Amino acid sequence: MATNPRDTYITGLVNAHALEEQAISLLSRQVERLESYPEMSDQIRRHIDETKAQAQRIEEILQSLGTSHSSFKDLVTSFTGNVAALAHAPMQDEVMKNTFANFAFEHFEIAAYRSLLAMAELAGDASGPKLLQQSLGEEIRMAKWIEDNLEATTRKYVQREASGQKAGV
Ligand SMILES: [Fe+2]
Repeated sequence: MATNPRDTYITGLVNAHALEEQAISLLSRQVERLESYPEMSDQIRRHIDETKAQAQRIEEILQSLGTSHSSFKDLVTSFTGNVAALAHAPMQDEVMKNTFANFAFEHFEIAAYRSLLAMAELAGDASGPKLLQQSLGEEIRMAKWIEDNLEATTRKYVQREASGQKAGV
């Protein structure tokens, strides 16, 4: 059965909405537990706010297309399910595991937005791409922050472990 580009785009938007909802809950759980990494806490809080706005942008696009995200069953991929499982498990090196998971998650979102931009074009959506670009820019910034701070986070974690301080969160 054939699916037209517009419906494929709508499905992509609904999936991206589910992804953002999951991002909000993952990041909220992380930041709630994080005590020893204030810069990371600040970044995560900022990105939670951005992510809420991203979900709203997707809702706006869906409305402009005459549909709503709630009319679809949210699909969550096994990838994000695995990342979520990772975030649930208490681990001594929680801050590092979360850093790896967030790095992967942000790149998953970057790929999703780049794909949506191509779909928007094929679906003839002239107004959506501006909003999608804005969200893409935020995902790229967050991914870059994680990447740029990976080494410093690791050093701090190892040093805190070595001095017997709380290191994992
Ligand atoms: Fe994100």
